[in-house]
Amino acid sequence: VYKDENSASVKVAKRIAKIIKKRQEKGKNAVLGLATGATPVKVYEELIRLHKEEGLSFKNVITFNLDEYYPMQPDENQSYVKFMDENLFNHVDIPRENINIPDGTLAKEDIADFCLKYEEKITEVGGLDLQVLGIGRTGHIGFNEPGSAPNSGTRLVTLDDLTRRDASRDFGGKENVPTKAITMGIGTIFKAREIILMAWSKKKAPIIKKAVEGEISGSVPATYLQLNDHVEFILDEDAASELT
Ligand code: F6R
Repeated sequence: VYKDENSASVKVAKRIAKIIKKRQEKGKNAVLGLATGATPVKVYEELIRLHKEEGLSFKNVITFNLDEYYPMQPDENQSYVKFMDENLFNHVDIPRENINIPDGTLAKEDIADFCLKYEEKITEVGGLDLQVLGIGRTGHIGFNEPGSAPNSGTRLVTLDDLTRRDASRDFGGKENVPTKAITMGIGTIFKAREIILMAWSKKKAPIIKKAVEGEISGSVPATYLQLNDHVEFILDEDAASELT
């Protein structure tokens, strides 16, 4: 538990930089699973600073984003492609071909195949060294909403009504929020060698309490993380304020 979002985000960025450098020293790629949304923004800001001011290179970094709305064009304002470009990728030296984000433009019949290949690609490059997560108020990680299976893989899912309500500001009304998304599964996330879940503010306190102290159940998918040995929750004091 950290005093605030800033100090926690700097710490997470340092952890990421350490993984990148360690792999660099061995002449290997670092494979990162990334999240979008408000939560990781300051982590990405600090990574950009480390790149610009301290010479951290992303040349050996391969990224896989957790999710994308479906349908979604990459140049739309709410696309996670645009989010990642603006908040991280455009400001560092990551090779474009190393960036992977679920494709919101696919024809429906091509989604299942795309999802299988997404999983295969993660495996081919050696698996995720680190997966960064936020948490939704439904308890979703990625877009694995209540009802998701613990061994689920990358797939097309239906967004929970609360998730769509929370996204409504970005879309100018809930009716404009897509009803579906393509997301890595809980099983995909679990294969990462390290997992960091971050949460800030009082708004996240009730779901953090459930995720950390509640009964393990598909109705709060983040509770599955209690079964993982390599997961860390990084919180500010507000998000941790309901923990006993
Ligand atoms: C985003 C994602 C989601 C968000 C969650 C929290 O790629 O997978 O699980 O992490 O909805 O969103 P924010 O950070 O906006 O509160």
